[in-house]
Amino acid sequence: THVVTDNCINCKHTDCVEVCPVDCFHEGANFLVIDPDECIDCTLCVDECPVGAIYQEGDVPAGQEPFVALNAALARQWPVISATIPALPEAAEWHGRPHKLPLLIR
Ligand code: F3S
Repeated sequence: THVVTDNCINCKHTDCVEVCPVDCFHEGANFLVIDPDECIDCTLCVDECPVGAIYQEGDVPAGQEPFVALNAALARQWPVISATIPALPEAAEWHGRPHKLPLLIR
């Protein structure tokens, strides 16, 4: 499966959802997650994300391993999003800031 990681938090560009053939993205207030039971590893979303937040499960950057379980857990709670919406207003300022996980709104 693929996994959404730290750099999506407070950016949420949502370009990724437009290309997903199986609607596996679920939306929270300031983050998206991928449902591992739906993802078919097509990899289309990886290059769509302008901030490089999506990785194959086995390639998640060091320190971001908790995002694997987090995607699975939050996908069960959050609704599906299948069309792109505007990025969060301060997305540019948050891009690349490390360790945004404490800011995640659940
Ligand atoms: Fe997040 Fe990138 Fe999608 S910022 S919402 S994973 S396009």
